[in-house]
Amino acid sequence: MPLAGVVDARSVPLLLLLVTLSTFPACRATHNITAILAEHRDLAEFSRQLTATGLADNIDGRNTVTVLAVDDAHMAPLKARGLPRERLRHVLSLHVLVDYYDDAKLHRLPGGSAVVSTLFQASGDAPGSEGMVKIADRRGGRVAFVPQDVDDAQATVFYIKSVHEAPYNISVLQVSAVISSPAAEAPSATESRPNATDVMSKRGCGRFASLVAATADAAATYEKSIAGGLTVFCPADKAVQAFTPAFKDLSPDGRLALVLYHGVPRHYSLSALKANNGDMNTLATDGAKWYSLTVRDVGDTVTLLSAAPKPATVTGTLTDGETLSVYVIDAVLQPRELFNGSHAGPYTAPSPGNASPDADAKQDGDGGGSRGQKNGASGAAPGGLPFALVFLLAAPIVMVIV
Ligand SMILES: *[C@@H]1O[C@H](CO)[C@@H](O)[C@H](O)[C@H]1NC(C)=O
Ligand SMILES: *[C@@H]1O[C@H](CO)[C@@H](O)[C@H](O)[C@H]1NC(C)=O
Ligand SMILES: *[C@@H]1O[C@H](CO)[C@@H](O)[C@H](O)[C@H]1NC(C)=O
Ligand SMILES: *[C@@H]1O[C@H](CO)[C@@H](O)[C@H](O)[C@H]1NC(C)=O
Repeated sequence: MPLAGVVDARSVPLLLLLVTLSTFPACRATHNITAILAEHRDLAEFSRQLTATGLADNIDGRNTVTVLAVDDAHMAPLKARGLPRERLRHVLSLHVLVDYYDDAKLHRLPGGSAVVSTLFQASGDAPGSEGMVKIADRRGGRVAFVPQDVDDAQATVFYIKSVHEAPYNISVLQVSAVISSPAAEAPSATESRPNATDVMSKRGCGRFASLVAATADAAATYEKSIAGGLTVFCPADKAVQAFTPAFKDLSPDGRLALVLYHGVPRHYSLSALKANNGDMNTLATDGAKWYSLTVRDVGDTVTLLSAAPKPATVTGTLTDGETLSVYVIDAVLQPRELFNGSHAGPYTAPSPGNASPDADAKQDGDGGGSRGQKNGASGAAPGGLPFALVFLLAAPIVMVIV
């Protein structure tokens, strides 16, 4: 075909130019999707949503791109669903292929199909290759668009017509409906995850939330723990205020340990907490030291024993969700490791894998939860002290080497 020959010959220098251009990330946009779509009144809603989700800028910033546009009538069901912005963005980004496909190329796919990357894939938000879309030539000249995580047989979106073609820069093709997939509509990480610091600061526990935020690594450790289950004991503002001078006296490591000591890496609803007399592991536990606190139920009241002079009492619930619970307590918890010698007295932490029989005897029937964590959370050699000594001895040697 002579036409194909012409296109191919022209595309060689163009492709070279594009390769050169793509090495300069800040090169100026060569097209404007909003302006292109403005000439087509029935694509107004699609255009509005590209702008609202920020995708229009992404499209204009790409040198080689194909936009699969949907008319207003077929955008209506999507609009009616009122998806959160992030999910809407994922769905719409399935409509932006990061390669050039015009009418001619669609009907001349090698082997009758092609798998093309989209902006959903390029965003890094798609699990695996689920941001890829398969273009498949069907009998009778129909062309289907199917996301990778949707079965081919369930193809419901077909090519209608070409709207705009600027060869190897941008192509806009109209398709019959919105392309979507389970991966694109899955709740995004930021939206599904409650934020512990946020819960505390919004619900009357602001001083402690500020301590968490101000202590390097603490907030991140809290947030990371939510996925696997987290219980936070948040001291009330008055208690934090009274404790401030003592907090300031701590070393940076001590401050971090104190702040993390108020988190238990397991989710306890209030009733589960009431049924759980015994020692609990905390987020402050690291490879060398096991930081635990003791839960003691007195009637219907939950109290927490640490090295603080008086037990702390749970006085309220800020949140009790599926994986995160935050309770208010009336005093700051003080790790025994920081406030009463590190290895003396009746509170000596049992070594990992050798939990105190006392605590276990009092566990209710839910599988000895805190014990499981002891084994899971601190994989250190038994006994924190030898480990610490090895570390102290090794540190200067490492420094000399460095
Ligand atoms: C793109 O076109 C729209 C409508 O014509 C215009 O409002 C907008 O400023 C343009 N964007 C850029 C970056 O030129
Ligand atoms: C494609 O973009 C380049 C600039 O990057 C421009 O020189 C060229 O004319 C454009 N081609 C078409 C067909 O619009
Ligand atoms: C918690 O959410 C707030 C806003 O809601 C945000 O500023 C903060 O960065 C989040 N913190 C973490 C650790 O995700
Ligand atoms: C230290 O521990 C002992 C029990 O071993 C206790 O009687 C004492 O009150 C504790 N001191 C502090 C400052 O918590």
